[in-house]
Amino acid sequence: SSNWIVMVTAKSPTNIAVIKYWGKRDETLILPINDSISVTLDPDHLCTTTTVAVSPAFQSDRMWLNGKEISLSGHRYQNCLREIRQRASEYEDEKRGIRISKEDWGKLHVHIASYNNFPTAAGLASSAAGFACLVFALGKLMQVKEDLGALSAIARQGSGSACRSLYGGFVKWVMGNDVTGKDSIAVQLASEKHWDDLVIIIAVVSSRQKETSSTTGMRESVETSTLLHHRSKEVVPKRIVQMEEAIANRDFASFSKLTCTDSNQFHAVCLDTCPPIFYMNDTSHKIISYVEKWNQYEGTAQVAYTFDAGPNAVLIARDRKTAGHLLQRLLFYFPPNVDLSSYVLGDKSILQEA
Ligand code: PMV
Repeated sequence: SSNWIVMVTAKSPTNIAVIKYWGKRDETLILPINDSISVTLDPDHLCTTTTVAVSPAFQSDRMWLNGKEISLSGHRYQNCLREIRQRASEYEDEKRGIRISKEDWGKLHVHIASYNNFPTAAGLASSAAGFACLVFALGKLMQVKEDLGALSAIARQGSGSACRSLYGGFVKWVMGNDVTGKDSIAVQLASEKHWDDLVIIIAVVSSRQKETSSTTGMRESVETSTLLHHRSKEVVPKRIVQMEEAIANRDFASFSKLTCTDSNQFHAVCLDTCPPIFYMNDTSHKIISYVEKWNQYEGTAQVAYTFDAGPNAVLIARDRKTAGHLLQRLLFYFPPNVDLSSYVLGDKSILQEA
């Protein structure tokens, strides 16, 4: 009979890089020019939920994002689907009398429904959560037996930063040096329990879609920015070692210094690109100045900031008490509808809870 359906639902959080990935050495396989390190957020807040289903009644592979059908024809989706199908193994549900052999997986079509609970493509790493979730859900559906490292190398081919969302806590994406990309995978540095005093607050400065996609931006930076080449060869390798040490020791002073400096260098690379790319706006700059002044006034780092390919501020407070002060001060200095169009507020403000 052809009226059966098998489905799997998965949920993946987004991640925020504290040592940034910017620049590819291979655009098809998505291989980076440097290692990067990120923090994975609490899955209850910024996340993607994806349901994947298979049925003999489906005529083609189809996908809906936030309820709207999108094309699966791009090479990123095709590569993920192909890599998962190649690793599929037999599925059997005796009760329902369903058996899907390894060969059947190559012939059956999938339907995919995915929801982001936050703005798509606004520099909040929506593609990171999206591809991590898609690959994880498809892997479960198709009985893929490989470990998370191998799955991360598949998610990487959807969106580079996605490979880091397969793990919680602190994650390193190792650039690797193999031409096939099999060693360009994510590894967990420490679990979410390792440093659970940290509180991450995201100030949504603008939920508009960014003007320059990260793909285009990276390509232009690789082609034109001399600063990027200096950064990937001379700066990042040292920072990776220092950041791993700061995380291992829960050293907030070093963690904060490295995070802010690395974000600023990434945006300097964007300015050094021809034509220049502006991801931050006046409000982003005001938030940076404000945090810098606060840290200087206290004499020890209280809050770290980092910005991705958009104007939204990701603020990391050293503990819950500081996070409380930070929220009060943000609301005072940047009232909603004046500087910030909205906040991630209420119980959603605290993205990484103990
Ligand atoms: O994976 P992509 O193509 O969305 O690129 C992400 C790039 C940054 O978010 C700016 C940095 C990073 O390491 O996540």
